[in-house]
Amino acid sequence: MALALITGGSRGIGAACAVRLARDGHDIAVAYGSSAEAAERVAAEVRALGRAARTFAAEMADAEAPSVLVSEVERELGPIEILIASAGINEPLEQDPRKIDAATWDRVMAINLRAPFLVARAAIGGMLERGYGRIVLLSSVAAYTGGIVGPHYAASKAGLHGLAHSLSQLAAGRGVTVNVVAPALIATDMMRADEQAFQGLARRIPVGRLGQAGEVADLIAAIVSNPYITNQSILIDGGLRPS
Ligand SMILES: NC(=O)c1ccc[n+]([C@@H]2O[C@H](COP(=O)([O-])OP(=O)(O)OC[C@H]3O[C@@H](n4cnc5c(N)ncnc54)[C@H](OP(=O)(O)O)[C@@H]3O)[C@@H](O)[C@H]2O)c1
Repeated sequence: MALALITGGSRGIGAACAVRLARDGHDIAVAYGSSAEAAERVAAEVRALGRAARTFAAEMADAEAPSVLVSEVERELGPIEILIASAGINEPLEQDPRKIDAATWDRVMAINLRAPFLVARAAIGGMLERGYGRIVLLSSVAAYTGGIVGPHYAASKAGLHGLAHSLSQLAAGRGVTVNVVAPALIATDMMRADEQAFQGLARRIPVGRLGQAGEVADLIAAIVSNPYITNQSILIDGGLRPS
């Protein structure tokens, strides 16, 4: 069917997307930062479903890495038709802006906001030329509410919404959709860093539990399969925030 590049494909939501999109018949480029073995396990799972998969290392804090990643993937596997930008960090957990120094701010912005821009920038030209593309950026409920991580994280995620609105204006009439998915409290490594705190938060979620990465992947698969959803920010948060 199509080739999907998934950043953050080694773990959590990105890994679930890799398997889910492979089930829908797509080949998968699994991009990872440091979890090479986990990325290989995801690729093996994709191959077991009968689809092609390869892993690609790319440090998203590096300004050059996203475009190098796109070039490598296209050279090895062909045109990228689906881009899921899931790589992200939520560290440090720090609500007090006085404790966020410029280096911390810049690192979170580089990984969570600049890298999705750079990887989308590198991939979207080919998508527009071919008249088909799907871009999904992983935001967070924090983009709407400020969230529980801190101002650095909330601002980095909110920036993705403006990016998607801008890109989708360029792309909407040319077969390329651009959307944001904003989860909350999904049970991945990101949340398990402080399991007790997050189980406490889970009790505040109307559905009464943490979400599953597979549930986010199902939403993303629906967005990828639908040409009439674009320029949207879609929450998946167990009813936490009405929109
Ligand atoms: N889980 C939630 O409740 C939740 C809620 C709202 C938003 N989100 C967003 O959803 C996305 C996925 O989250 P998740 O829960 O799946 O997180 P996760 O389980 O912690 O996985 C994070 C992924 O991002 C990659 N990554 C992190 N830093 C990187 C870097 N510097 N360079 C390259 N790759 C890097 C990791 O790759 P390596 O391990 O290979 O480095 C890993 O594959 C993130 O953008 C996150 O902000 C998650």
